[in-house]
Amino acid sequence: MYILMMGPPGAGKGTQAEKLVAEFPIPHISTGDMFRAAVKNGTALGKEAKKYMDAGGLVPDAVTIGIVKERLSETDCAKGFILDGFPRTEEQAVALDGILKGLNIKLTAAVNIDVPDSELISRVTGRRICKSCGATYHVKFNPPKKAGICDKCGGELFQRDDDKEATVKKRLEAYHSQTAPLITYYKKAGVYKEVDGTQQIDKVFADVVAVVKG
Ligand code: AP5
Ligand code: MG
Ligand code: ZN
Repeated sequence: MYILMMGPPGAGKGTQAEKLVAEFPIPHISTGDMFRAAVKNGTALGKEAKKYMDAGGLVPDAVTIGIVKERLSETDCAKGFILDGFPRTEEQAVALDGILKGLNIKLTAAVNIDVPDSELISRVTGRRICKSCGATYHVKFNPPKKAGICDKCGGELFQRDDDKEATVKKRLEAYHSQTAPLITYYKKAGVYKEVDGTQQIDKVFADVVAVVKG
């Protein structure tokens, strides 16, 4: 299974990818998570990426393509992967085609989680993430059993720096101008699948599994 998870900020890409990897043992590769790890570790990549992330814009293609190429070449990706949040520009999509060709891999599906903008702001501003294991929660839509504490590992929950309302609006603008055109790109490639992301998390998951297997 070689899957792309597409969709606007807060659509549920990470949430659904987490559930997929619990069922199918393939790596979950999120460029957003990779950049956040680099920021946390204070690397040169992290310092570069942070400027763009804090502004709600996209990290330059050359940087992003480079880290994905490296990651997809690791042996654990040979039997499958879930790419979450990449590609986000046409240049990235073209580069991905080249990388996959070189690895002799054909995409199984590009799954777009469709959610209208009106629902995305509250999803993103209410999101909480576990510091230790990265599990995703929502204060209202997917609360942990104990406020502020991860159900899975007991870790402390925190809010992402770019999840403030003003930054989320910028991220939505970047999505519509730079990333949404990829829907047409993957329709043309014949691998495009869409699920209704406004349903409950488990119902969305059932639909994701169905389109991926279909
Ligand atoms: P990234 O981390 O990828 O952020 P994003 O695309 O904005 O997406 P999110 O992670 O915010 O949302 P999600 O779809 O994963 O939703 P989630 O499952 O958490 O990127 C961050 C930044 O890094 C970018 O802005 C950019 O600067 C940079 N970057 C990353 N990739 C890049 C690339 N390829 N090129 C250039 N720059 C790049 O769910 C959201 C919330 O909703 C959670 O609280 C969850 O519990 C809740 N929720 C989920 N599903 C449901 C549901 N069905 N019903 C109700 N609530 C739900
Ligand atoms: Mg995410
Ligand atoms: Zn945890």
